[in-house]
Amino acid sequence: MPIRRPPHPEPPFRIVRVSHVELGVRDLAAARAFYVDCLGLLVSNETADTLHLRGLEERNHHSIVLRKAREPHAAAIGFKVASEEDLDRAAFWFGRNNLPTSFPEIPHQGRTLRTADVHGLPVDFYFRMEQVERMLQRYAAHRGGRIQRIDHVNCFTPDVQASHDFYSEIGFRTTEYTETEDAGPKLWAVWMHRKGNVHDLAFTNGRGPRLHHVGMWTQSPLDILNLCDLMATSGYLPNMERGPGRHGISNAFFLYVRDPDGHRIELFASDYLTVDPDLEPIRWSLKDPQRQTLWGHPAPKSWFEEGSTFAGVPVREPALGAQPIVAR
Ligand SMILES: [Fe+2]
Repeated sequence: MPIRRPPHPEPPFRIVRVSHVELGVRDLAAARAFYVDCLGLLVSNETADTLHLRGLEERNHHSIVLRKAREPHAAAIGFKVASEEDLDRAAFWFGRNNLPTSFPEIPHQGRTLRTADVHGLPVDFYFRMEQVERMLQRYAAHRGGRIQRIDHVNCFTPDVQASHDFYSEIGFRTTEYTETEDAGPKLWAVWMHRKGNVHDLAFTNGRGPRLHHVGMWTQSPLDILNLCDLMATSGYLPNMERGPGRHGISNAFFLYVRDPDGHRIELFASDYLTVDPDLEPIRWSLKDPQRQTLWGHPAPKSWFEEGSTFAGVPVREPALGAQPIVAR
């Protein structure tokens, strides 16, 4: 069976949810105009070379960190764990599996374990982050897409089955998956969660590891439609890559946009609850046009090919050659 449940009733350490992503950007002012003035994220801290951003309901100091860089790249994906003890258990588990472990100093958050997954994708784990004011009911401060919080991260992987097996081992549960129609079906994409909605983490077959997109949660599809009007009339029309639409997978309402450095952000609303332990994963065929978009529109070629590389991490071609339906 390609889909596995987490092998242990209790994972080796408890991950709460995906928490933040750091992105390298060439022009911090251009990135600020996009993320803050257009998308409506809040600034928690600003220096000459970094911007720490958060959504309206977030009490954590940051969910997106932008750092000035010579070339665009993604740094690490950050996960919050349930306690300091879980952090120690995580360090032990990654060390025992011969994966790199270090504890770099990261501003605005406590002790942070930096490690990597089976494909070298950099991941950080931490328990404590500086807490800031919740702005959810400061309606006068709401702008753009009225983004409330980070929801998920989606990555290309050269081997979806291996990524799926690795994250199952550390407690992620699979909610939906795409497989090929061969006699021996192969996993082409998976959606996995810790926090109780469709995903914290998704993997798609492709050159990887690379970051495909960061999904940011908005309260309603109307916020996404409002952002479409705003982007279309404020110089950001070319940055709108796909959507708005309704995904088959996850049922979410979506819009994909590209920041000035090409990093992809998804505005995401209206998925569903997945906390029941006996929830069966939902299967989709790679050939089903409603998989990508319930209304039948295929995604553009760029959506399947372009992504952000992780700094210093070599990219491999995917083992699986199966092709999705692509818009002409
Ligand atoms: Fe997504």
